[in-house]
Amino acid sequence: MLGRERARPGPSAAPGVRPAPAAAGVPLPAAGGSTAARHFLMCPPEHFAVEYRINPWMDPVAGADREVAIRQWEGLRSAYEALGHRVSLIDPVEGLPDMVFAANGALVVDGRVYGARFTHAERAAEGPAYLDWFVRNGYERVREADFTNEGEGDFLTLDHVVLAGTGFRTDVAAHSEVQEFLGRPVVTLRLVDPRFYHLDTALFPLNGHNVAYFPGAFSPGSQEVLRRLFPHAVIAGEDDAAVLGLNAVSDGTHVVINEEAAGLRSALERGGFEVVPIEFSELRKAGGGPKCCTLEIRG
Ligand code: ARG
Repeated sequence: MLGRERARPGPSAAPGVRPAPAAAGVPLPAAGGSTAARHFLMCPPEHFAVEYRINPWMDPVAGADREVAIRQWEGLRSAYEALGHRVSLIDPVEGLPDMVFAANGALVVDGRVYGARFTHAERAAEGPAYLDWFVRNGYERVREADFTNEGEGDFLTLDHVVLAGTGFRTDVAAHSEVQEFLGRPVVTLRLVDPRFYHLDTALFPLNGHNVAYFPGAFSPGSQEVLRRLFPHAVIAGEDDAAVLGLNAVSDGTHVVINEEAAGLRSALERGGFEVVPIEFSELRKAGGGPKCCTLEIRG
């Protein structure tokens, strides 16, 4: 294995912390934690299109309307900014129609950047493009992956554990590569339903210690692991999963979520979360939701 991690000088900006609002009503187990301002990397869908099929949502014959996608993506970006989060942008590259799905570009924790290595040739050039953004922006610890992985699409970071998906895209060998690189425990979860080909299509962290998920997307053993780790999880039904309702972004207080996920929205509200519904039907034609378009930069 090559020593690919390289030290680089550069500033690392600590995100400002905002106090969490007082809980309203009876607190339920799902809510809690503090709301800190997040730093997100997004890629404008200037070259977005559905022109190949690498997941069951994509229909190149039906295609997608780029203008609508741009409008919906701008809505997501504005929602983050209105919540006080910081959004950085990476330049879209012509010929990479899925580059809008920034979550797949890398995994960034404690300022350490683990690069993506895509499963499909159609997206291969996105890995170096995202890594290059981090290098140019002064990130100190950048690692090119030895193993196939699709960044935050399959790695979701909580306070004490990183949840890692496998089965469709990310190689299980990348899970241990990440554990060594980040020095954080990584728990492997096996995905079994092709509609939910990335972990972030079936599960999202509500805060640093709890999650929402659709059990049917996981193998029996992984469902058991999730029950043990998260006895107070918000369990989503198939209807909500089928509109990519679990491809949501929570800051611990607010949950930015596809507006069509009605059942999940109510469950989150009952759990004390503030729901921020987003219209995102056009990006879904490529198999993506709000979280797919969002790469969180931690530290
Ligand atoms: N068309 C893209 C693909 O199949 C969608 C990626 C969605 N990203 C995500 N984080 N789930 O790779």
